[in-house]
Amino acid sequence: MSFQRSPGTQDILPGVVERWQYVEEKARDICRRYNFREIRTPMFESTELFHRGVGETTDIVEKETYNFIDRGERKLTLRPEGTAGVMRAYVENKLYGEPDVSKLYYIGPMFRYERAQAGRYRQFNQFGVEAVGAVDPALDAEVIALGYTFYTEVGLKGVRVEINSVGTPEVRAAFREKLLAYLTPKRDQLCKDCQSRMERNPLRVLDCKVDQHQFTDAPSILDSLDEECEQHFSKVKQHLTDMGIPFEINHRLVRGLDYYTHTAFEFKAEGIGAIDTVGGGGRYNGLVADIGGPDQPGVGFGLGLERTIMLLEHQQTEIPQLHQLDVYMIALGEAADREVTKLVYELRNAGLRAERDYQGRKMKAQMKSADRMQARFTAILGEDELTNGEITLKEMATGEQRTVKLTELAVALS
Ligand code: HAM
Repeated sequence: MSFQRSPGTQDILPGVVERWQYVEEKARDICRRYNFREIRTPMFESTELFHRGVGETTDIVEKETYNFIDRGERKLTLRPEGTAGVMRAYVENKLYGEPDVSKLYYIGPMFRYERAQAGRYRQFNQFGVEAVGAVDPALDAEVIALGYTFYTEVGLKGVRVEINSVGTPEVRAAFREKLLAYLTPKRDQLCKDCQSRMERNPLRVLDCKVDQHQFTDAPSILDSLDEECEQHFSKVKQHLTDMGIPFEINHRLVRGLDYYTHTAFEFKAEGIGAIDTVGGGGRYNGLVADIGGPDQPGVGFGLGLERTIMLLEHQQTEIPQLHQLDVYMIALGEAADREVTKLVYELRNAGLRAERDYQGRKMKAQMKSADRMQARFTAILGEDELTNGEITLKEMATGEQRTVKLTELAVALS
């Protein structure tokens, strides 16, 4: 009997995992500079949290969650996204009691039962940030800047920022009526999904890939904003402009989660089949209260790491070679082998990346391994050298050889 991975999941193997490490390290580095600190929350939470947090009428909650009942009869769900869980932790751990804005980030797997296709997985990874405790539009702009910087610094080209304001729930309720008046006469021409969305969440209709072309003259939510929403949105745009971050306004941009208020944004890029959204986020001023916490506003994003890595591959972006050995050690004879065991231990302790043979292979085969592993140096220890307390060092790029004292090996390799 043999086993295969579940549809929509991936094995990330050595050779590819370096890209992941590179991208994750970039995310952490940028978060450090922006003073966002890491938070790690559980991969499953109570089912109710996501119903309240993400929203009953969203595709995610309606058809994509992995739900299960544990042996203690608890109704649980594998997290389909990060924000709801982070807000649960924010409330439960009373982070709102701290004087400063909570600036948090996370990197980890999320789970959605979606139709698997290029760029769409059932287990996928997000890099997300959440800043909770202030309504300042500078924070919306900062979060967008952080995401934009991430894509730029990993080396991606052509990532566009689209922004919109989805207003407050009151603004949306009024806009919903206008929109329904516009959509109702078109109802029969709309796809099945849109017809059902019209009842539950008509704003989502505007975002539909199938029907979008029909909505060129649709009313814009930006014309329905009240004074407060208008001001918030114009300040976000102002800050982005001041920072020199290019953005486009897309009044049809409606995110697939219910918690957004005011700013909604997406990062878009071509190169992953039919999918063009690589990340998205926005402000969620009602979410913390909706899940039973104090009335604290927040703003954040989630960026898909699979999509980021697919784009890196698509654009053939060079990433620094992370796995490169400093030295591959070759022992000739039993006594030398014993010495090499000790030497690699010492070199590794000294901070060097050292490797050796474990299969008793001939020198030629070991040299090939050193090549494959892109070792900077090969160090060859024979019986004579051992007696003299020396070792032969070959620089792989130039082929140059020299003899160094065993006691000076670490220094010679640094
Ligand atoms: P989201 O738009 O549902 O937002 O997901 C964010 C990103 O996660 C997407 O743009 C995409 O790159 C990636 N993603 C989503 N589903 C999949 C999938 N099935 N396969 C691969 N990648 C996927 C959120 O999750 C919000 N929590 C973002 C946020 C944080 N808003 C405020 N704070």
